[in-house]
Amino acid sequence: MATVEQADPLLKEGDNPDGVRRRDFINIAAVSFAGVGAAAVVGPLVVQMGPPADVLALASIEVDISKVQPGQAIKTSWRKQPVFIRNLTEAEIEEAESVDVSKLRDPETLDERTAEGKENWLVTLGVCTHLGCVPLGVGEGENKGEYGGYFCPCHGSHYDTAARIRKGPAPTNLVVPEFEFMSDTVIRIG
Ligand code: FES
Repeated sequence: MATVEQADPLLKEGDNPDGVRRRDFINIAAVSFAGVGAAAVVGPLVVQMGPPADVLALASIEVDISKVQPGQAIKTSWRKQPVFIRNLTEAEIEEAESVDVSKLRDPETLDERTAEGKENWLVTLGVCTHLGCVPLGVGEGENKGEYGGYFCPCHGSHYDTAARIRKGPAPTNLVVPEFEFMSDTVIRIG
């Protein structure tokens, strides 16, 4: 007399109909294989989850300053913000150092805003600290304001030769980003 188990075409002689049957084993094996496959795919995905190359490139930039003469400035871009790099003249350095820092709205010395031994190189964001306009003063002949540094025409903020706020509504000095000299002629920002 035929049993229910014998009706299963995958059931072989000697199989225990109440235990793990051959068809179950095939299903388990298939699931296990899928698990191994999933694990194999996870590796590359994890690697790809790091910052893309273009984002890493924006994290820091290197700028060649070899052509910037004393009294000149250049504008570059870092993390989508303008950056001013200025080669101060001796007179501009003296001007900045002669100021009574305690009377400044945002008291900082030129030394505190520049790299040691490279006080002539002033690196700042080109973003007015009032409402974010880009101040004038980098280009040849541009208005540098009443203190010879930068002038923001949006609401009339004047920055001195150390890019410190001296007059107008801006609350703080132009921001000095993290930077370092890679050599005498190359600065890395960021
Ligand atoms: S944004 Fe520069 S003074 Fe207002």
